[in-house]
Amino acid sequence: MFMENQSDLRARTLMEALPYIRRFAGQTIVVKYGGHAMVDEELKESFALNLILLRTVGIYPVVVHGGGPQIGNLLKRLDIESEFVDGMRVTSPEVMDVVKMVLIGEVNTSIVAMLNQHGGNAVGLSGHSAGLVQAEKLKLTKRVKDGQPPEIVDLGLVGKPMTVNPQVLQTLEHGKFIPVIAPVGQGPDGESLNINADLVASALASGLRAQKLVLLTDTPGVMGDKQNLISEMTKVQARELMDKQTVTGGMIPKLNCCLDALDHGVASAHIIDGRAKNALLLELFTDQGVGTILKG
Ligand SMILES: Nc1ncnc2c1ncn2[C@@H]1O[C@H](COP(=O)(O)OP(=O)(O)OP(=O)(O)O)[C@@H](O)[C@H]1O
Ligand SMILES: [Mg+2]
Repeated sequence: MFMENQSDLRARTLMEALPYIRRFAGQTIVVKYGGHAMVDEELKESFALNLILLRTVGIYPVVVHGGGPQIGNLLKRLDIESEFVDGMRVTSPEVMDVVKMVLIGEVNTSIVAMLNQHGGNAVGLSGHSAGLVQAEKLKLTKRVKDGQPPEIVDLGLVGKPMTVNPQVLQTLEHGKFIPVIAPVGQGPDGESLNINADLVASALASGLRAQKLVLLTDTPGVMGDKQNLISEMTKVQARELMDKQTVTGGMIPKLNCCLDALDHGVASAHIIDGRAKNALLLELFTDQGVGTILKG
């Protein structure tokens, strides 16, 4: 057997992408960029270039970003304590001010700037923009022990998306813009509510009838009991992993969001390692993929 030379290999990799590009052209892909995956400028740049490539081949990426560690840093500098329940940040009015400053002011602007530096035509939005994400306060029910009634936890100004109005996103798609959305929703009285970005991404994926929901985080994907990467998972397995508490913290909203999106017609949900360069392209355009995939 002859050895494949470098240029053959490169050509083969490019050709491998062709059926995927054909399949996804004209489709919307909602990408959640986790705050934990924003490790350094080089990675941010690689993420931006991946998005621009998608847009260039006729796929519509919609970006929703997180910012947990970035919010944590500013709160620390301001000497305000952080508290989490099941991966959700407890949000007082004071914390909400910081959440908006960091998510809308800092993180959103830096992603938009990086995309536009490379000709990405990105537009920064939040859930307030043109009624994009109407939210209500989230009441978290926490299972205490078997046989006992669940405990209801008040997380303060934390919301869940109730209605999404994706019209503004559709308008931007037609104009070949890339929307970048900060996960702050508008409450019934016009107030801002802090929403876990996974929830916003999932609600938008459902509302836009997206082909895929892709969540970029800081683990190789969903890990099993023995720290093994689970490359493919059914809905039943996902629920079992949460019941067994193999999945905890920030991975809980992520799995619930994937299940919800699948129930609303999104064809597949992916949890991938945003700390790896080109993770998005590899997951979408190669046969192997890189993280965990859940199919409807
Ligand atoms: N079984 C599991 N497999 C993988 N990660 C898990 C599992 N159980 C819990 N986790 C935790 O979930 C975390 C990912 O969620 P987290 O909310 O911290 O990040 P993110 O959502 O990517 O970022 P942000 O919240 O800023 O948007 C992992 O870093 C890991 O600690
Ligand atoms: Mg999270």
